[in-house]
Amino acid sequence: MRYFLAILVVSTVAVIGMLGFQGSHFRKPPLYIFPDMEFQLKLRPQKPSGFFANGRTSQLPVAGTIPRSAPIQTAAGEVYPYEDAPVMTGRTTGTTNFVESDPLPITVALLKRGQQRFTINCSPCHGQLADGNGITKKIGAMAVVANLHDARIVKMTDGELFYVITNGRNLMGAYGANVTVEDRWAIVAYLRALQFSQLGSMDDVPEALRASLKK
Ligand code: HEC
Repeated sequence: MRYFLAILVVSTVAVIGMLGFQGSHFRKPPLYIFPDMEFQLKLRPQKPSGFFANGRTSQLPVAGTIPRSAPIQTAAGEVYPYEDAPVMTGRTTGTTNFVESDPLPITVALLKRGQQRFTINCSPCHGQLADGNGITKKIGAMAVVANLHDARIVKMTDGELFYVITNGRNLMGAYGANVTVEDRWAIVAYLRALQFSQLGSMDDVPEALRASLKK
């Protein structure tokens, strides 16, 4: 009986101590166990301060600071990496539809960059010609690699190609972490050039150059 009463008293005090005054309001400040964590000497952002000559707490970056991320120049203007824009997602903003065409301005420099990045990142499996005969097939590391000239893949939108490079598909791994956004679009542009090399006809060649081609 004595033990029972002792346990009852202790548990009543404990329960009231922990839960009893929850939600009550107090006018006095609470007990600070570590006051130096709550009240520290520091400068608050955006507040005035006499410490620096210009009177601000937040100082401007020093001259010559190199930004960690720069906006991507798309054909439609600048896009920052946090924006929900086609160049970042491969999809039309606000929908799940893939964009039809590469949002970057298509230039010779972009295609050259795409060629170089394709050779590094894609040709080991897909081959220099994108026909699926890369070195990994020859050494037997990969049995089936997609031939990127397949009609199904030629018909994909640029947005879907970007999506496949970014996230991978079936047996193919994701390259989003290894290849920057601009480089992925450059690869898409170059892949289109490779596909076109198999699909173009004499009509696509400028008149003046036709004679120079072998029939
Ligand atoms: C490690 C080998 C490997 C590398 C590197 C690789 N791929 Fe693939 N890729 C594959 C394989 C394997 C498939 C077939 C996937 C399947 O259908 O199972 C494939 C499929 C694809 C497809 C077709 C997807 C579909 O819907 O069928 C595209 C497009 C593609 N790759 C593009 C690329 C591009 C562009 C790169 C370079 C950034 C690249 N791949 C790098 C192995 C690779």
